[in-house]
Amino acid sequence: MSFTLPDLPYAHDALQPYLSRETLEYHHDKHHKAYVDNGNKLLEGTDLAGKSLEEIVKASFGTNQALFNNAGQHYNHLHFWHWLKPNGGGAIPGELEKKIIEDLGSVEKAKEDFIQAGVSQFGSGWAWLAVKDGKIVVLKTQNGENPLVHGATPILGVDVWEHSYYIDYRNRRPDYLKAFVDHLVNWEYAAELYSKAI
Ligand SMILES: [Fe+2]
Repeated sequence: MSFTLPDLPYAHDALQPYLSRETLEYHHDKHHKAYVDNGNKLLEGTDLAGKSLEEIVKASFGTNQALFNNAGQHYNHLHFWHWLKPNGGGAIPGELEKKIIEDLGSVEKAKEDFIQAGVSQFGSGWAWLAVKDGKIVVLKTQNGENPLVHGATPILGVDVWEHSYYIDYRNRRPDYLKAFVDHLVNWEYAAELYSKAI
C-alpha cells in the first residue's frame, strides 16, 4: 500500500474558535500532506512496501528513522483528525468512562494528567491515553513516536508540535490543551478505539 491523505472529516473552519481555518489549512493540507508524500518516497522499494500502516510504523521504528518519522506522523494525524470534532469535549461513553475512573482515579484526574503530559512534553511530540497490559495509561512521546512502538494501543492523542497550535495560541500550549479537552475531543472515537483495543 502507499499512504494517502484523506480529506478532513469536517470543514476547515468547523473547529473555530478553538482551532482556526488557517491552522487546519497548514496542519492538514501542508504538514500532514508532507508526511504522506515523504513517507511514500521513503517507502518505495523497501521490503515494507505493501504492509499495513501499523506494521510499517512498528517495523521502521529503530531501523529506518526517516521512514518511521513520516509513517508515524501519518498514523498519528490520520487518527488526530478524528480525535477532534465540532462541539467536542462532552460526556465520555459509559464503558470508557468506567475504565478511566477505574485505572486513572477519576475523569477529572485523567484530564489533568493528559493535559500535564502534553504540557511537560519537551519540544515536539504527543500526549496520549493508551491501553497497555489491559489498563488505560497516560503517556507522552517525542516527535513522531506513538504508543504502538511502546507496547501500547493509542485511544486518544493530542498533537503538541508547535504547528498544531502556534497560529491560534502562540506559546500558550496549556490553553490549547485545555481547549482540546473541554471543547474539541471526540470521545466517541476514543471509545471506538478502546473497544477495539480490549
Ligand atoms: Fe501535527
